[in-house]
This record gives sequence, C-alpha cells and structure tokens, in this order.
Amino acid sequence: MNSLNDRLRNRLNKIETNGKLRCLTSTSPGDGARIIYQGKSTLNLSGNDYLGLARNRELLIDFYQKKSLENCLERYSLGSGGSRLMTGNFSSYPLLEQDLAKMYRAEAAIIFNSGYHLNIGILPALTGKNDLILADKLCHASLIDGMRLSRAEVIRYRHNDYQQLEELLIAKSNQYEQIFLVTESIFSMDGDLADLSTLVALKKKFNACLLVDEAHSVGIRGLSGLGLAEEQGCLAEIDILIGTFGKAWGGQGAFVVCSELLAKYLINTVRSFIFTTALPPVNILWLRHIALKIPQMQKKREHVRNLRANLGKALLSEELRIGGDSHILPVFVGESSKALRLAKELRQHGYWITGVRPPTVPEGTARLRLSLNAAMDWCDLEPLPKLLASLMEK
Ligand SMILES: Cc1ncc(COP(=O)(O)O)c(C=O)c1O
Repeated sequence: MNSLNDRLRNRLNKIETNGKLRCLTSTSPGDGARIIYQGKSTLNLSGNDYLGLARNRELLIDFYQKKSLENCLERYSLGSGGSRLMTGNFSSYPLLEQDLAKMYRAEAAIIFNSGYHLNIGILPALTGKNDLILADKLCHASLIDGMRLSRAEVIRYRHNDYQQLEELLIAKSNQYEQIFLVTESIFSMDGDLADLSTLVALKKKFNACLLVDEAHSVGIRGLSGLGLAEEQGCLAEIDILIGTFGKAWGGQGAFVVCSELLAKYLINTVRSFIFTTALPPVNILWLRHIALKIPQMQKKREHVRNLRANLGKALLSEELRIGGDSHILPVFVGESSKALRLAKELRQHGYWITGVRPPTVPEGTARLRLSLNAAMDWCDLEPLPKLLASLMEK
C-alpha cells in the first residue's frame, strides 16, 4: 500500500506542477444565474442550465404544488429500486419517451441516466471490428470513451473540416461494413457549430450513419427548442440524435431519438442502459413537466441570443480573443496558469467563471468558458469585458 501511495503522490505532484490539479469547490445554488460561494453571491457563468430552469424557484414551486400523495410511490419516489429491464420501468418512463418521440416527430426515444452513460454505451453497442467511426476531433470525452470501448477503427478528423472528412470517406468507404459519422452540434468547449446539413449530405453520399450529440443545443436552439438540427432544418435526416436533460432542460439524464428498430436494439445491447439503476421517478416526472414548456420558451432562447451578441461585441471591443457562435463563449488566454489566475480573480469580483485547461482542451488554448443563461440580464454582464481586459494585462 505504501508503494501505491507513493505512486499516487508522485502522479498528483506532477499534475499539480503542470497546473492541472482539479479540486472540488463547495457552492450552494442561488436564484436564477447566481451561485453562493463562501456566503457571497456570484454570477454563475460556468453552468449549463442555459434556460435557467434548474434554479427557477417559481417553476419548482409550481411543480411541487401540483403534487398530492396519490400514486406517490410510482410518481415521486427518489429511488427507482431497479434497472429499467428488471423492475424499474415505471409507467412515467415510457410516457416521457413517447413525449420525446412526439416532440421530435420520430419513431422512438430512449432515456438514459446521463449523457455520459449514453455516449459510453451506444457506439460500442452499434459497432464491430469491421466498422469505421469518423469523429470530429473536438468530440466530448464521453464520446471518445465510447469510441475507446468500441471495437471499430476510429479516425478523428480535424475539427469541422468536412473536406478532410470527405477525403477520408473517399479513401475508406469500401473497406468497412458500416461507417459512422460522429459529431457534437454545439461544441462544448468552443461554442461553435457543426454544419449538420453538410454532414447529412456526406452521410447520404457514402451511405454512412450520422450520430449527433446535441447536449449543448437541446432546449436552447431551434424554434421549438429541439436543437441545432431543428434550426438547420435537417432534424428528420439525423439517424441518431442525442440530447441531455442536465443542461438546458434543468434536470438529469439523457435521451436518444431514433427509429423503433434502433430503440429495440439499444435496449437489448447497450450495457450502460442495461446494467444500471433507472433514474428516480420524481426526476422523470420533473422532465415531463419541463417537456411541456420547452417548445414555448422562445423568448428565453431569444434573450440568451441577445446577451451573446452584446457580450461578444463588448469583449471584441476590448480586443479580447473570443470564439464560438452560441451561448458558450470561450475567451482564449493561452496558458493554464493564466486561466487559473483570472478565474480566481474574477471570483473575487463576483463572477463565477471556470478556466478550462488541457487535457480538456488542446495545449496552449486554455480559456475562460463563459456560458450564458436566460436568467441573466445584460446589466449583470456589462461590466465584465472591461474588468476582464484589465485583469488580463496584469
Ligand atoms: C457534448 C456532451 N455530451 C455529453 C455530455 C455528458 O452529459 P451528462 O452531463 O448528462 O453526463 C456532456 C457533458 O458536459 C457534453 O458536453
């Protein structure tokens, strides 16, 4: 055990020396976009609650006030007590799946416990050693872990470089049984967008299967909040569309929208669906409550879009280097240590902003990732660009 402890200490020291040590910080939720840290309220620019639903007091009161003790075990319990395939498939689960299929005008939807569960399970279940996965270089860690668990060959094309993707397809398409194209729609650390119509055209041309992770766009993009595929007019062409409930939906879990055949296959083969306890029933009930509201939240979506436009303009006028084209707005700072320093100083000024560092992002591209939320007002954000510019120079 001593030698193991020595090994752990050495490795942690190395991580810390490289400025990459991660620590858990205690916070409490505040109303709307605020987070309480050491008794002080700060503006939370690090969360994924893009519509401000997870911290919406009125919505929560409305949800709980409607509750009676009728059917309380099935509806409100905090533990499902079993996996979906054993005893945990209470009636609300298929009802939420039907709600989702209807919203997306799809044949079927299947709920998973989290986006991570979904992404580490789906590619290994779908692919075999005679298949090829072509994935965007910036796909989320959960998709990468899924690819690692799969037996398919994996090639990661340069971020949003569809020319390289097409060259790979031309070179490889008749060497494999099935090709899978994998992308996020809004990239989680860069906030930029995939061109889904181009990907749809490529998948058709090469008879590939297109999987799109819309974790950061469901709820917040598209006329009815279905995501970027809805906005870009190609919803019906996405073979496998993944969304998560832990971000704009203000809950927990994830879903895949797909054909009935594929849904049946996933239930039978995805290990991270089969071998895990189902989400608590009360969580499912909350998600059904939210599902009714998402399509009507156009005003909130527009508000976030306006905040983004104003903040982007103000940051550029301070000559800061920004990226993205969405409510996720990275401000590039370069070195990890600088990102850490800035995040710490911003906290003292009332802004909760996380520095994102390698290995989450490539070396030399450490950044402050600002994520906007419908519960924010422009007056909350207006002082930030000047402040950031002055701290950056120190
Ligand atoms: C693109 C993407 N997919 C999946 C996930 C995982 O989702 P969850 O938090 O529900 O596990 C994340 C989490 O941040 C993500 O950014």
